[in-house]
Amino acid sequence: MSKEKILDPNTLITSKTDLKGNIIYANDDFLKYAGYKMEEILYKPHNIVRHPDMPRTVFKCLWDYIQDGREIFAFVKNKTKQNDYYWVFTNVTASFDEQGSIINYYSVRRKPKSEAISTIEQVYKILLEVEQKKGIKAGIDELMNIVNSYGMNYNQLILELQK
Ligand SMILES: Cc1cc2nc3c(=O)[nH]c(=O)nc-3n(C[C@H](O)[C@H](O)[C@H](O)COP(=O)(O)O)c2cc1C
Repeated sequence: MSKEKILDPNTLITSKTDLKGNIIYANDDFLKYAGYKMEEILYKPHNIVRHPDMPRTVFKCLWDYIQDGREIFAFVKNKTKQNDYYWVFTNVTASFDEQGSIINYYSVRRKPKSEAISTIEQVYKILLEVEQKKGIKAGIDELMNIVNSYGMNYNQLILELQK
């Protein structure tokens, strides 16, 4: 049976990736919650912690934002090496060189509000169903419909849920 690991309120889980999403840095809290040793994750794709309950739509949205140089916030359910899971509230940003080109990506995660997770679990269930039946574009359209129904943009809604 898969168990939830709840983040300590003071925890900050950080990681850095190259342009393709391979992990080039992870802090001790990352290793602690994901259950890996540094040598097991370094230079591996970040989807090593991907949980199957996460809609592809959310990651498509994440990559669209960060490749465009914009920051993004998200609630993410991650899988540990031991097949347990932990929810995070995350911020992902691009880092730039002096010419303004993106050189890598950085993310910081902390404990999400439990009320936010109840809401987001329902949203992700809908997105999973839509993308599985009708594809990723339909998933994105559905996400935008949900976001618009709150009269906000995507990041505003996610930040509002974490307040
Ligand atoms: C800086 C950064 C941090 C990321 N953190 C996570 C994470 O914690 N969990 C996760 O499942 N994907 C994370 N991703 C997204 C993954 O790169 C990947 O897109 C996602 O796991 C979906 O896997 P897939 O693209 O193979 O379908 C992160 C990406 C970047 C650039």
